[in-house]
Amino acid sequence: MITQTEKKVEADSYHAIYLESLRVDSMLDFDLYIRKSNNFVLYRGTNLPFKEKNRKTLIQNNINKLYISSENQHKYQHYIEKNIHQIINDPTIPESAKAGIIYDNAKLMVKDVLKNPTLKENIKRSQEMVENTVSFILKGKSTFHNLIQMMSFDYHTYTHSINVCTLAIGLARFSGIDNQLELDKIGTGALLHDVGKTKVSEAILNKPGKLTAMEMGFIKKHPKWGYDIMKETDMISADSYHAILQHHERENGTGYPDGLTADQIHPYGKIVAIADVFDAMTTERSYKQAVNSFPALKEMYLDKGAFNLTLLEHFTKLMGPTNLGNM
Ligand SMILES: [Fe+2]
Ligand SMILES: [Fe+2]
Repeated sequence: MITQTEKKVEADSYHAIYLESLRVDSMLDFDLYIRKSNNFVLYRGTNLPFKEKNRKTLIQNNINKLYISSENQHKYQHYIEKNIHQIINDPTIPESAKAGIIYDNAKLMVKDVLKNPTLKENIKRSQEMVENTVSFILKGKSTFHNLIQMMSFDYHTYTHSINVCTLAIGLARFSGIDNQLELDKIGTGALLHDVGKTKVSEAILNKPGKLTAMEMGFIKKHPKWGYDIMKETDMISADSYHAILQHHERENGTGYPDGLTADQIHPYGKIVAIADVFDAMTTERSYKQAVNSFPALKEMYLDKGAFNLTLLEHFTKLMGPTNLGNM
């Protein structure tokens, strides 16, 4: 796993990458660095094939992480997106490393998507990312657990989007949905559920104090704005829109934008609502501390009638300490 110290270094100009993410015999069009205390030493220049003997030497020297420079990040990302399918299906790579590679790649990709959500190429990439996440989760009993371990507890819209996507796929799967296409639709809707927030200013989104009625009015528009943004691209399945438009609706009619009640809310809206609130509560914001899983779930039960009870029970079992990941 990439540690906190490495994350701090990442904030500067080098990014830790998993050795397992490099495919043997593939050409790498980015430089690779090795970390020696606080220095980054060039290990391999661009356009050299990565050979089995290179991999072995690194392992023999206890090097399981390499570094890339910020300028090369997009090249590396492109390389991973091209190879992620083989990585997920490679039995020699530990599941924890696969989960780390999926999560790291998703972070970079979702940042791009949120910067430019109507770019067709970005939507296509996010759909591929969701498909890979779904096939990874469908692979085994502990894969979901491995992904949960990777989740960031600092709130950013991009990490929140990935977390909600992962949690929603996990909840849907745990509730009995095992069809890949259906899970893809839920995952895509979940990943893009807050895309409408790109129209709300950061100052309002991160405001520490109470929001004014006007500011709240803007916030409440984000599901509809998200729907409009995605509708314009016409690239996602009609069912995925429910997750975007209805993730703030509540079964007891207290939600927004339309104050729908239980039988009016699509199951995808109900699934993403639970994943969304849980992630929002368990991550840290500029204006609030994160709470642990148990108090977060308790609070959701106390919000009487807001969430679908059957789904909430499934979610509690899924996230519970004894059942985590046992699908
Ligand atoms: Fe939202
Ligand atoms: Fe959200």
